[in-house]
Amino acid sequence: MRVLILGSGGRESALAWALNRSSSVNELVAAPGNAGIAEFATTLRVAVDDPAAVVALAQELRPGLVVIGPEAPLVAGVGDALRSEGFSVFGPNAGAARIEGSKSYAKELMDRAGIPTARGQKFDSVPDAVAYMDELGPPYVIKADGLAAGKGVVVTEDRDRAVLAIEERIDTGVFGDAGRTIVIEEFLDGQELSLIAVSDGGTVVACEPAQDYKRVKDNDEGPNTGGMGSYSPVPACPPPLAEQIVAEIIEPMVDATAAAGEPFSGALYAGLALTSKGPKVVEFNVRFGDPETQALIPRLRSDFGELCLACASGDLSGTKLEWSPEACVSVVLASRGYPGDHQTGVEIRGLDAAAERPGVSVFHAGTAADDGRVVTAGGRVLAVSALGGTFAEARARAYDAARLIEFEGVHARTDIALRAEIKERTES
Ligand code: AMP
Ligand code: GLY
Repeated sequence: MRVLILGSGGRESALAWALNRSSSVNELVAAPGNAGIAEFATTLRVAVDDPAAVVALAQELRPGLVVIGPEAPLVAGVGDALRSEGFSVFGPNAGAARIEGSKSYAKELMDRAGIPTARGQKFDSVPDAVAYMDELGPPYVIKADGLAAGKGVVVTEDRDRAVLAIEERIDTGVFGDAGRTIVIEEFLDGQELSLIAVSDGGTVVACEPAQDYKRVKDNDEGPNTGGMGSYSPVPACPPPLAEQIVAEIIEPMVDATAAAGEPFSGALYAGLALTSKGPKVVEFNVRFGDPETQALIPRLRSDFGELCLACASGDLSGTKLEWSPEACVSVVLASRGYPGDHQTGVEIRGLDAAAERPGVSVFHAGTAADDGRVVTAGGRVLAVSALGGTFAEARARAYDAARLIEFEGVHARTDIALRAEIKERTES
């Protein structure tokens, strides 16, 4: 079967790598892809957020399956457009994708279904928003309602900064119309956890838990990013807790989307805070996490192409995922200035040497081929993932490989999965 995968980030590199190994996939096309994906797939340019352009490409390629990686095309209705032309699609329709596309809609469904989440409300007036923020007290959590590439959220103790964040979104429109409506919510304390499940609208098949690092600097300092690293499994989330999250959070959300007339088919991502009162939802996403996927896929032993096909055809009952017991740690290498303005077009060296290290996979995130060289093409450039028998081994392998890769201005966090390594050390 020929498979078309949409997207160009680290998540799509990992998904493409898994599809390429699937026994049911004999040809992989990525649009637009990146320099890493181009090593084993055909890459084609397309405006992935434009349903008509994607349908035209699919009509040319006639793929047996289209896997949609990022949220923007899902929210824009690319899944609907492909399905209405008879294509098999992994990823929800726009109606179900609204649970990521609008944080206030997600809150409405959660409230209806009794899913535990932060108390919060939506606003489009600055004084009303500030009054509610003061009622909740610090730390303040301010979110753009719509999609903002992981950068629409401000969490701060500083009231002046919080008020500025409200004004920037509602009055100045720094996140465009998507951000003119905002959500103010209660701060959730506790470790964060990502639990991603695949659903065909009825059956739910959960992945193992993963953890993402959102802040740009060590010790969770600095601004939020799209994610600076990840690891899996998560010692703070043993199997009974993961099962509880599936039963009390994921399954009720799948049911809630169906009850709203928009059944969810694809990867449902619950971003959670493990609070003293139990797990609570920070956000829902309608696709695999980036960079969580880069720490999950190397551990997945089941055939990923088969999983996507079963999901797309509404036939997940009976599917079970097998995972390697090894730990996986994924370290993101970012461009100077990220998550703010950053340079691109900088040559990257050392990729082959890093990829040859034991247990290591180098997933490209923002790269492009340029005259026989690989150059940076985004803020998050690479995700260096490594498997190991312990977190100590996986971390050492990932960081040893990451050190072999050089490009001007590269920066990475040094503490990815450190808390898992410490927990492992104190428990052994
Ligand atoms: P979101 O885009 O909603 O996932 O938010 C991005 C990040 O902001 C989350 O991963 C958290 O680190 C942080 N965050 C969002 N909402 C809250 C909250 N209610 N309490 C604490 N931190 C939050
Ligand atoms: N890692 C967070 C996200 O994918 O949104």
